[in-house]
Parts: sequence; structure tokens; C-alpha cells
Amino acid sequence: MNYITIALAKGRLAKTTMGFLNEIGITCEEMEDPKTRKLIFTNEDLKLRFFLSKPSDVPTYVEYGAADMGVVGRDTILEENRKLYEVLDLGVGKCRMCVAGPAEAAELLKHHELIRVATKYPVIAKDYFYNKKHQTVEIIKLHGSVELAPIVGLSEVIVDIVETGSTLRENGLMVLEEICDLSAKIVVNQVSMKMENDRISRIINDLKRVVS
Ligand code: PRP
Repeated sequence: MNYITIALAKGRLAKTTMGFLNEIGITCEEMEDPKTRKLIFTNEDLKLRFFLSKPSDVPTYVEYGAADMGVVGRDTILEENRKLYEVLDLGVGKCRMCVAGPAEAAELLKHHELIRVATKYPVIAKDYFYNKKHQTVEIIKLHGSVELAPIVGLSEVIVDIVETGSTLRENGLMVLEEICDLSAKIVVNQVSMKMENDRISRIINDLKRVVS
């Protein structure tokens, strides 16, 4: 029997996912050692392998078939835009992708002015402004703490994830427009879905019961 390989976005989501998997009888003892520096973990009985990667790399591993399945946020799936199947919403990590900025920036969005948009998500931001709003904007790619950009004058608005809204509030910014809802998803390689359909479908169906 071949291994089914599952790529997990490292961090809180990986821990939550392992919790769900434990509930359906899929465990991985090796992974529970907090001191381990291993990158890949195996459950020989179930012929399953797990690895932790940077969230933005999960769709890449899954598209190329280096992982048969992956668990990652919808923000990353949309931004990476890879060929894969999105098969199950885990209903965790719920948040929203938003356009945010100071209250004054609301006017600039209404009048379709040429504005600067700072974001970690240039693909999502471009799609929203160019294809949905038909507004020409300058996208400025940042790697984190995006809320800084409108405060220090790098951009008029940002496109970023809003969960509780406290980062915006504490920095005098607000949600100006909502782009989409986000949550964690299971993604599957398109070939693996055919070749290993029984085993992958069983995992997905078992998980459906746990998460619903
Ligand atoms: C994310 C996001 C916001 C913040 C939103 O940042 O980019 O900054 O969380 O959460 P809130 O609405 O609950 O305040 P993250 O903590 O991942 O760090 P980063 O800004 O360095 O990307």
C-alpha cells in the first residue's frame, strides 16, 4: 500500500487538524514530541505520512503531488491559485479578507481614485480591485504588520485578514469593504483524488462528521 501524504500548515492550524484527525482514529505519536526537529512523520500502521510546511507552500506541495492532501487557510489557497481540489471546510480559523484603512479612505474607494493598496495578498487584492471593482490601484507587497502602511503614509488602504478586528481598532483603522470569508480547508491533489479515491474519501467523510 502506498503512503498517503498530508501537508499541514505549521502553527495553530496543524494542531487543530491533528485534533480532528485524532477524533477519527488517525494519530501520529512521532509528531507529539515537542522537542523533535523532524520534518516528516509517519504512521506505519495506517500508511500515512504528515509534514509541516510554511502555509503558503502547502498548495504547491499538493498541486505537484508531493502531498496527496493538505490543510491550509482559504486566504493562502486564493493567493497561490494552484490546481487542486478544495474538498472540505474545517470550519476553523474563521476570518474575513477586507479592505481596511482610516475612515477618510472610504471616499477614495467610492470615487475609483488611483490609490495605493498595501498587502501580503497581491493576487487577492488585484483580483478584487481590477476584476470586481474595476478600479485601477497600485499594489504594494508587504510581508507582515500591514496595518502600518496607511499609518506611515505608504498606502491609502490595505487588504488584509481581519479576525477580531482589534489590530485595526488599536491602530485607528477600520474595515472599509469586505472581500470574502475565510476559513481552513482540506485540499487534495487532482491525480491522488482518482488514484487513492477510497482512502482519501474515507478520511474526508470521517472528518465531515467530526467538523459538522
Ligand atoms: C493577522 C492579520 C492582521 C491580524 C488580524 O496578522 O494580518 O494583522 O492578524 O487579527 P485581528 O483582527 O484579530 O486583530 P498576523 O498576526 O498573522 O501577523 P502579521 O501582521 O505579521 O502578518
